[in-house]
Amino acid sequence: MNISIFGLGYVGCVSLGCLAKNGHYVVGVDVSQTKVNQINSGKATIIEKDIAQIISEQKQAANIEATTNAKEAVLKTEISIICVGTPSSDKGHLNLEFIFKVAEDIALALKEKDDFHVIAIRSTIFPGTCDKVAQLIEKESGKKRNINFAIVDNPEFLREGTAVNDYFNPPLTLIGSDNKSAANKVAELYKKLPSEIIITDLQVAEIMKYVNNSYHALKISFGNEIGNICSELGIDSHKVMEIFCKDKQLNISPYYFKPGFAYGGSCLPKDLKGLQTLAHDMYVEVPVISSIDKTNEIQIQRAIKMIHQYGNKKLGFLGLSFKEGTDDLRNSPAVSIIEALIGKGCSICIYDKNINISLLTGTNKEYIDSKIPHLSSLMLDDAKKAIDTSDVIIINTREKEFIPLLKNCGDKIIIDMVRLDDSLLENSNYTGINW
Ligand SMILES: NC(=O)c1ccc[n+]([C@@H]2O[C@H](COP(=O)([O-])OP(=O)(O)OC[C@H]3O[C@@H](n4cnc5c(N)ncnc54)[C@H](O)[C@@H]3O)[C@@H](O)[C@H]2O)c1
Repeated sequence: MNISIFGLGYVGCVSLGCLAKNGHYVVGVDVSQTKVNQINSGKATIIEKDIAQIISEQKQAANIEATTNAKEAVLKTEISIICVGTPSSDKGHLNLEFIFKVAEDIALALKEKDDFHVIAIRSTIFPGTCDKVAQLIEKESGKKRNINFAIVDNPEFLREGTAVNDYFNPPLTLIGSDNKSAANKVAELYKKLPSEIIITDLQVAEIMKYVNNSYHALKISFGNEIGNICSELGIDSHKVMEIFCKDKQLNISPYYFKPGFAYGGSCLPKDLKGLQTLAHDMYVEVPVISSIDKTNEIQIQRAIKMIHQYGNKKLGFLGLSFKEGTDDLRNSPAVSIIEALIGKGCSICIYDKNINISLLTGTNKEYIDSKIPHLSSLMLDDAKKAIDTSDVIIINTREKEFIPLLKNCGDKIIIDMVRLDDSLLENSNYTGINW
């Protein structure tokens, strides 16, 4: 394919060389005449393992060229890949001025182009940017989105220092678009790479780099805080984290990564508090670890707010324990929200097949007696009865038995804390806590 690449920095130079190595003809565009001259004399614009040789070979094979003339590049190619910088603004937002400038340049070229053109954004952008770029191109070129051109988001995941290897072995190739044929065309560019190609919604792709990089920063900071605590205690933190990483079921795994309700139960809150206090006693600052329970509390407050907007209606809770399959009520977030809503005067009924109040003992009983002493008067022994007598149904545990009942509950409002089943998404009265 014939491709133009806008921006010949780290991402652009690597993409230019590697796409050419994979058999494409690539025209690089940059505002810097120096970078354009470097490419045209077979030199890389950056220092990065293997890229100098790739650029030299691809120049010799006449597979690459560079120019400062955007129009010329767009007119001789079918896809333009935008790799310009998106630095932080003073207020912490991404500064997208270079993206919009390139969009204008592409629009001016499209005025003179009859063939369909695909624009893929490889730079890191925030959700909504592709739509803005498309609007700008429509306005400047007079051409129509998805008739004359299409926008695709195709975020780059390479890391400097290992960029060429990362290009040829990415964790995945992500393509977001509202245009299937444009998405497939961009997917074609990467068909020689070994990784999975995922085609998804535009905005899902747009937010992905933020999610990834924030999580990577969180991993580093969490590891460092654990290291700081361990080192104060004379424990080898590397041995600790090596073992931590060996747990592929709970630690290094998709487990716990589904957005939903707050955590609870007897272990997570208690042990987190224990670690925070240990660090505090040794004067070790652990802001990441110390903010985890605050985030959890915010999630509980979010749920209370969502439910309390229907405060004058009858509220029916399906599930009370901190997760399905247990009668442990200790630190169950559902108990906290019910306690708060009772305090606000709401009318409540509860169904949980695992809770038999007469069988609750020990700290479990003490906990619930201190929070909702009249719990037995709120409990129903039948899920259908709880649904039938309520106007708003709150799902707290992932019990499959609720699904058919909720599908046939008419126009009752459903608030789901656990994403019980995707088929419920079809119901117009259904809301998830964070989806
Ligand atoms: N560097 C990385 O490791 C990395 C990894 C993944 C994603 N990203 C993202 O990719 C994007 C590019 O990053 P980078 O590090 O390659 O940036 P960079 O600053 O190295 O390169 C950007 C290039 O764009 C050129 N440019 C600016 N305006 C232009 C215009 N109007 N027309 C043509 N060229 C223009 C600049 O001259 C420069 O050469 C950013 O959004 C970044 O967040 C970077």
